Amino acid sequence: MDFKGFTVLTLVFLLLIFVHNEAYALSRYITWDDIRIPEREDDYDYDKITGFRNRDEGGNEDCRVIVVDQNGRGDTRTVQAAVDMVPVNNSIRVKILILPGVYREKVMVPASKPYVSFVGDPKHASETVLSWNDKASDRYKDGSELGTYRTASVAVESDYFCASGITIENTVVAVAGGYKMQAVALRIAGNKAVLYRVRILGTQDTLLDETGSHYFYRCYIQGSVDFIFGNSRSLFKECRLHSVADRYGAIAAHHRNSEQEDTGFSFVNCSVTGTGVALFLGRAWGNYSRAVYSYCDIDNIIDPSGWSDWNQPWRQRTAVFGEYECRGKGADRRKRVSWSKSFQFEEAVPFLDTDFIGGEDWLRL
Ligand SMILES: *[C@@H]1O[C@H](CO)[C@@H](O)[C@H](O)[C@H]1NC(C)=O
Ligand SMILES: *[C@@H]1O[C@H](CO)[C@@H](O)[C@H](O)[C@H]1NC(C)=O
Ligand SMILES: *[C@@H]1O[C@H](CO)[C@@H](O)[C@H](O)[C@H]1NC(C)=O
Repeated sequence: MDFKGFTVLTLVFLLLIFVHNEAYALSRYITWDDIRIPEREDDYDYDKITGFRNRDEGGNEDCRVIVVDQNGRGDTRTVQAAVDMVPVNNSIRVKILILPGVYREKVMVPASKPYVSFVGDPKHASETVLSWNDKASDRYKDGSELGTYRTASVAVESDYFCASGITIENTVVAVAGGYKMQAVALRIAGNKAVLYRVRILGTQDTLLDETGSHYFYRCYIQGSVDFIFGNSRSLFKECRLHSVADRYGAIAAHHRNSEQEDTGFSFVNCSVTGTGVALFLGRAWGNYSRAVYSYCDIDNIIDPSGWSDWNQPWRQRTAVFGEYECRGKGADRRKRVSWSKSFQFEEAVPFLDTDFIGGEDWLRL
């Protein structure tokens, strides 16, 4: 090869590297590194943790750690104070390491603060608890009723949020016939979020999975009525959906309103457990409500009809409610409403993995 050929080849090579880097910079991925802090699992010693500040596992400087310790040995005593430290228009991953304890506070991650991780201990998620107790009928400062949306103990409006190894709860206990007892534990409205081994506890309207694409992996979600609701596109994989209903209740109330929306709740390899005798797998909150259960283990707490049209019969034509290869007494489809579907493999495939949530564009797990 002559000198000219060599030069051209070199230029092409450099151009390829440049294009690749640009593409990478434009599309941010969530990886395991984003929800972990090394050493943390076997040692909570504060001095050791500080050793990892401003570095991630690979010694990468593009990451910050803020330590929250209610006993005062961290950077802040509350989770909100740590969120407040994250700069507006943040562009690097900030891991907020929350040491064990019950943090009684209402937390809000605003849209202007993307790339925030709440990290507890994945092996002991119940030891790090973010807890509050607003319900829909409570009053706001101006005297108006809070309404369901404003009750969330933790609200996340930013993109690329992650959480692992923590519990988020709303301690209000909805009683049957009670007035506006809706009490959200977590409201998540940012796009692209991963929750791993997070416990989300409440009774009525526990998880407001409002909008965006979300991946819930090995989470525990507890409630009684519509305890997973909203219009997100979410995959719940290997999660436990735990009912605390007295008799009646519902797991998923999905709010899709048109065929054009790519949203839906997909439950894959989850287990459905708890109390009650007549839970619905889902209720059609929107005309095109979409919920699918695949490979799930469902206890005998489900209403044999399985699904509800929310007393809006026209929704029977457009709601997409499917079941594929589920097990357990609650999975018996013989008395199911005729407008729900027993999926064939081909129909289930789009819902079975992270492709459903567009994971190829933002997940590297
Ligand atoms: C954050 O970004 C928005 C939109 O680009 C901009 O309007 C705003 O001034 C920025 N704020 C700060 C504090 O950088
Ligand atoms: C379901 O999850 C278990 C682990 O919890 C795993 O061993 C099994 O392979 C999974 N099954 C399917 C069908 O994904
Ligand atoms: C749902 O469908 C009904 C009946 O077709 C219609 O009247 C209503 O406007 C629809 N709702 C929405 C939000 O599109």
